Amino acid sequence: MRIIAVAGGTGSVGQTIVEALVAHGKHKVLILTRKPHHQVNELTYLAVDYEDVSATARSLEAANVDTVICAFGMESDAISEAQVNLIRAADLSGPTKRFVVSGYDMLFQEEHIAMVPTAKWALAATQAAEGSSLEYTRVVNGLFLDYYGLPHWRSHLKPWVNAVNVAGKWAVLPGDGTCQVNFITSQDMARFVARLMDLPKWSPVSSIVGQTASFKDILQVAERVRGERFSVKYESLGDLRDGRISFPEFEETGLESTGRSTESILASFHYISGTGGYAISSDDPLDARFPDIKITTAADVIESSW
Ligand SMILES: NC(=O)c1ccc[n+]([C@@H]2O[C@H](COP(=O)([O-])OP(=O)(O)OC[C@H]3O[C@@H](n4cnc5c(N)ncnc54)[C@H](OP(=O)(O)O)[C@@H]3O)[C@@H](O)[C@H]2O)c1
Repeated sequence: MRIIAVAGGTGSVGQTIVEALVAHGKHKVLILTRKPHHQVNELTYLAVDYEDVSATARSLEAANVDTVICAFGMESDAISEAQVNLIRAADLSGPTKRFVVSGYDMLFQEEHIAMVPTAKWALAATQAAEGSSLEYTRVVNGLFLDYYGLPHWRSHLKPWVNAVNVAGKWAVLPGDGTCQVNFITSQDMARFVARLMDLPKWSPVSSIVGQTASFKDILQVAERVRGERFSVKYESLGDLRDGRISFPEFEETGLESTGRSTESILASFHYISGTGGYAISSDDPLDARFPDIKITTAADVIESSW
């Protein structure tokens, strides 16, 4: 049994990972949070101040934490700094040996920094982990399928649109809509993360392939299930690259504090997904390590939600 602390385990992805770890049942789970919490439903919350690296290290040490899974919502330089501080604290803590950096997304690389701020923060965490004595990994899983079932699909995720809005019956597809993307539900991703804890050795990147499909494939399933044609626009990759996307409606992404407009952030993510950024290639995906995890498909999500 390992003692695993999920930092940001109060958030959307964090709660999902906590639930999967509890269901897996092999390890003791703690939640690191900035707010004091009592023990709720047998979950233990550990209040920490990420700005105080030595105090955070002492808390990890006192709780005998072996592994930290970071699930911060990467939305600002301040949150990125909190993650880097947490990596430093984990490095200082004697019993803490392993760290999962907050990712659960595409494989952000240097070339993506100019397009989306998330890339800069993913790399800052990776560099800090590389420079530590911790064994670390970044989970790369493509896009979450939950969005195509919300608000009916049971999920902790906040609303977001990736090309197809099943509730509103519209789609804005990047390019011709046929670019391959990897998809998985947040619940399946979290099952893989729980099983990752049992592997004796980690790679710097832990890939989950899930389902490979195009946004056009998702649209076809959505139209079939909802029984009518959606309003569809094919958005040129040039417009997306230049920050324009013709979503008829959209909500803030959480990344606006970086000074970018919501439209340009959504356009950048769709440019990246329309040019293969969300296609996962790996010789050793977690799917092959844990073939007993049955992948929920886009059709499963959409058919059971609508
Ligand atoms: N692939 C996809 O489709 C997809 C979709 C959504 C998210 N993601 C990824 O999943 C990860 C988690 O995102 P999320 O949406 O689940 O996050 P979230 O719910 O916005 O936040 C998770 C937690 O982060 C902590 N937090 C917030 N601000 C903080 C700060 N300044 N310092 C330290 N901790 C802070 C909070 O915990 P406390 O208040 O308890 O401290 C919060 O509950 C991100 O890396 C994101 O990119 C991927």
